[in-house]
Amino acid sequence: MSEKRRIVVTSALPYANGDIHLGHLVEYIQTDFWVRFQKMRGNDCVYICADDTHGTPIMIRANKEGITPEQLIARSHALHLKDFTDFEVAFDNYYSTNSPENKAFSEQFFAAMEKSGAVTKQTSPQLYCARCKMFLPDRFVKGVCPKCGAENQYGDSCDKCGATYAADELGHPVCTTCGGTPVVKDSEHLYFELEPQHDYLREWIPGHTTSDVSNKLLEWFNEPLRSWCISRAAPYFGFQIPGYPDKYFYVWVDAPIGYLASLKNWCESHGEKFEDWWQNPKAERYHFIGKDIIRFHCLFWPGMLHAAGFEQPNKIFVHGFLTVNGEKMSKSKGTFVNARTYLDHLPASALRYYYACKLGGTTDDMDLNLQDFVQRVNGDMVGKITNLASRGAQMLNKSLEGRLGTMDDEGRKLVDLARSRADVIARHYEDRRFSQVPVEVAKIADAANEYFDARAPWKTVKDPAGAETTRVTLTTILNVFRILAIYLKPILPAYSEKVAALFGESSYMWADVQKTVENIKIGAYEYLATRIDAKQVEAMVEKAKEKPADSGEVAHESRASKNKAERTAAKAEAAPAAAAEAPALKPEIAFDDFEKLDLRIAKVVACETVPKSSKLLKFDLDCGVLGHRTIFSGIRGAYPDPAALVGREVLFVANLAPRKMSVGVSEGMILFAGEPGVNGGVLSPIVEAGAGTPAT
Ligand code: MSP
Ligand code: ZN
Repeated sequence: MSEKRRIVVTSALPYANGDIHLGHLVEYIQTDFWVRFQKMRGNDCVYICADDTHGTPIMIRANKEGITPEQLIARSHALHLKDFTDFEVAFDNYYSTNSPENKAFSEQFFAAMEKSGAVTKQTSPQLYCARCKMFLPDRFVKGVCPKCGAENQYGDSCDKCGATYAADELGHPVCTTCGGTPVVKDSEHLYFELEPQHDYLREWIPGHTTSDVSNKLLEWFNEPLRSWCISRAAPYFGFQIPGYPDKYFYVWVDAPIGYLASLKNWCESHGEKFEDWWQNPKAERYHFIGKDIIRFHCLFWPGMLHAAGFEQPNKIFVHGFLTVNGEKMSKSKGTFVNARTYLDHLPASALRYYYACKLGGTTDDMDLNLQDFVQRVNGDMVGKITNLASRGAQMLNKSLEGRLGTMDDEGRKLVDLARSRADVIARHYEDRRFSQVPVEVAKIADAANEYFDARAPWKTVKDPAGAETTRVTLTTILNVFRILAIYLKPILPAYSEKVAALFGESSYMWADVQKTVENIKIGAYEYLATRIDAKQVEAMVEKAKEKPADSGEVAHESRASKNKAERTAAKAEAAPAAAAEAPALKPEIAFDDFEKLDLRIAKVVACETVPKSSKLLKFDLDCGVLGHRTIFSGIRGAYPDPAALVGREVLFVANLAPRKMSVGVSEGMILFAGEPGVNGGVLSPIVEAGAGTPAT
């Protein structure tokens, strides 16, 4: 017997400002496979995670919703945990980075880093929005790419030409929150110096991640390592830096420290000592992450741990990105699917099984092909594997009092064959070659199905003299199936639990593969898995198209683009989609600009709702000399009774270029008065003027 291992495992901490989607689940599900496997082996393994709660996007989103960041992150925490639980992702602790433990650790890290001389101050020009009263993170400013001239590019890199640059190099920068023009302002920040750890990190990296990852990272070591900005100016939702009242830790400082905080929180509620886990050289620590956040985990994080005198992770396991039907997830195609949307249409076990089939433990991207998904689940998981149990157990219960017999030599041979793959399969799990597990299981299931067909129990069972032969056949089939259910337990935990119950056993451990079940009465057969229908998938895709865009998509779009490594830092500050449509304060305009507007008064002849749109009202306006105009306005929320607007006079912009919308062409714009966040009202002319008369 090898010694019990003590293992800490983490998945990256999901941002609190977005929903969990199928892309995230690639990570949490595979980490869960690995953790469950370790637990089945009898190791002391804890799965640690938390919500990543700090940063500008969360602050702005909370603002926009009129709630506090604390309320926002509490809501996300509950939703995230529910999504994970329903996908059978079983954390030992799912905490929050906005915790007292994390604050204390962050301060401890900073003090140690400062003491070692690794913290410096630098002043750099940064874009500042006077209206929002804040320095703008890269993703909160858009403008003209300094390289290729493309418009509407973020402050870190250009989507058109791939160039990376500093935000203050953008032409005509605009604050995405308020639409104002930011100014360049000097700002003093704290930096973490990595160059003193140049040699240490160059040595450390290759042994702690895969070679493709480390080779990429080591390219940076041909030059001095650049220092990393670890502070953010107020206002910021995060931890204030001791000794610097207007500065906060950049979210990527306290996020990885959040692993330690969550572990500590778990230790405290389980009578364990943090030191015995993280600071124990005999314990093992592993981080599962996606390839977009390599730099933070393989460079900054080990640098911080080293500077602060903490133990390092043993390995950082990096996975690739999810594509759906061979393309990056897309809102309009309905392939950007939230965890909840999936669960509303399909069983969690099907996705877990399919992801297992596709995960090879490499950094390659992983494709969810929806057609293949249906086929594999129905063909293998249900048809090939589960059918052994449903046919075997149901027949045994129906015709043979549910009592298992004793196997004959042929049966024993088959069971031994199944059992003989235990070490090979365990190795696959340990090395995260999850895709090999269903392959191995299917091979055994094929052999069992052949045996089943050859012994034709459905025939022998009809012959009164064949009862015992049938019992031997079914006993064999069910023993093989039981072993498969043990092999599959990390992937299909609830399924495996039901199988254990069928045989009157408790939760399976890996060693249970060695046991045989004979001469016992089995329980009632409970459905383990049912076929899925392509129609369920279609319905899910339709639903995914419908749902309003959430912040997750922006983050995803940015990370799925070509220039991933360059964008990691930027992504960390990815603005929620909502920020783009935030408060309606527009940049100042010149009188010349104002004069270009041809404002006129018109009478509302008809006003009605627009099918399938929750926002739009369709107006028919009598514009006097201009005739009739059709205008669509997004103010339905403010006017539950559109008919009440008929007969009213409104002010409208008559010389706005007609705009083609999905519901028709809008020939102008009606003016409304409103406050940020509140739907405005129709701006009625003060003076009663005849329709069609110029307003000025
Ligand atoms: N908050 C940071 C992580 C801090 S860890 C100290 C973050 N959050 S995230 O919500 O954007 O992503 C969480 C994890 O999910 C990351 O490891 C990320 O790579 C992974 N994925 C997010 N979208 C993904 C896909 N589309 N495909 C595969 N993994 C993806 O990054
Ligand atoms: Zn602004």
